[in-house]
Amino acid sequence: MASSRDQFSSRFGFVMAAAGSAVGLGNIWGFPTQAASNGGAAFVLVYLVLAFILAYPILMAELVIGRHGQANNVASLRKIATGPFSANSGTFTAYYGLITASLILSFYAIVGGWMASYLLASITDLIGADGATQWMTEFGETRNLLFTVLFMGLTATIVSRGVADGIEKWSNRLMPMLLGLLVLMIIYVLTLPGADAGLRAFLIPDFSRALEPELIVSAMGQAFFSLSLGVGTMMIYGSYISEQENLPVTGGIVTCVDISIAVLAGFLIMPAMYAAQHNGVQIFDDGGALIAGDTLIFNVLPPLFESLGPAGPIVALVFFLLMTIAALTSSISMLEVPVAFAVERHNLKRGRAATLIAGVIGLVSAVIVFNFGELFGRVVAFTTEFSQPLLGLFLCLFAGWVWHRDGVLQAMKKGAPNLEHGLFWKIWPAYVKFLCPLFILLIFLA
Ligand code: TRP
Repeated sequence: MASSRDQFSSRFGFVMAAAGSAVGLGNIWGFPTQAASNGGAAFVLVYLVLAFILAYPILMAELVIGRHGQANNVASLRKIATGPFSANSGTFTAYYGLITASLILSFYAIVGGWMASYLLASITDLIGADGATQWMTEFGETRNLLFTVLFMGLTATIVSRGVADGIEKWSNRLMPMLLGLLVLMIIYVLTLPGADAGLRAFLIPDFSRALEPELIVSAMGQAFFSLSLGVGTMMIYGSYISEQENLPVTGGIVTCVDISIAVLAGFLIMPAMYAAQHNGVQIFDDGGALIAGDTLIFNVLPPLFESLGPAGPIVALVFFLLMTIAALTSSISMLEVPVAFAVERHNLKRGRAATLIAGVIGLVSAVIVFNFGELFGRVVAFTTEFSQPLLGLFLCLFAGWVWHRDGVLQAMKKGAPNLEHGLFWKIWPAYVKFLCPLFILLIFLA
């Protein structure tokens, strides 16, 4: 079984897949406005520091546990257990992560579906099919359900092809495209009148704001979500990395790509918002804060695109293509968690497992679609604000306390023979053991 296990075929492939998981809607619609309303460049700086001292160590813990296990997350966590209690805790943590990943996918697919519907709407807009355009840009249960199913179908199609031929191949295609589209959009948006005010709002540092405790806490949450931590996504991707690979370096690249795309997204979103304001669109809510999240994507940007004349539908098309790609490379990483488990544990064929599990998660999405007001926000909060940090805490306890330090070192040294003499090994063990758990407890207290 172990010898026939699917693997990423190259470092580039792994970095694209893991960065594809990390770079998602969180980067593009979360980070820029958070930065702008929280001290601009000062927040970016705080975020950068936190990403490296909190998120990166946990990412490393997940990657090394996964690569050592060479199996699904339940087996990987049990493998480092030292007795019945830690083995059972491993099983519990892996299942909890699997369920959380599935629940995150159940709402993420709804949002991904919105991106896909706006993408199609920009095409129907170009060919003048106004009825269709209007239907696809109006919030409705039928539209939401239809596009959720479409998005889930795309996700399952890629995952069913496997790691190298599905996840890696598509990440290799989609991630460079995402970067290209992003840069293209930035160049265009910076030429719009009013855009420079957005740059200023994003970049001028206000250090007094950035050091407020609530801000640090929200930056931590953002870093956690953005690097897809806790639920076992990175652990299962880690299990597909070759033993020749230097984990601290590879993980560092993934962290840097994720941060860079978030900062780049700021160069797009902030100028776009201020250009929209220049054209008479309201960009601050009644409380005086910058509009963020879905309202930003669907109420601030579309009027901006509309005001651009003939270029409008094309700019909209590029933007929503970008968003759809960002969402898709993230959603495949969520689906891989339960699929890998079902394939190994229950001997299901990958294609069948992907279809079946995507179907079940799709049903959960349908329940959310039909009870949107009551359920959507609750599922988001339960999974991302509560479960993710809690799971991150468990993983630190596993990597720092359960797994013997020497075992970790041996596992980490594969592909990095000089590890124990470097800076990484001087710092990291103490981080996952003491500092990261402490940080996470702080998030909870807040
Ligand atoms: N990191 C992605 C984003 O920024 C979302 C994501 C992918 C994720 N996989 C995850 C979030 C696993 C939490 C857990 O949008």
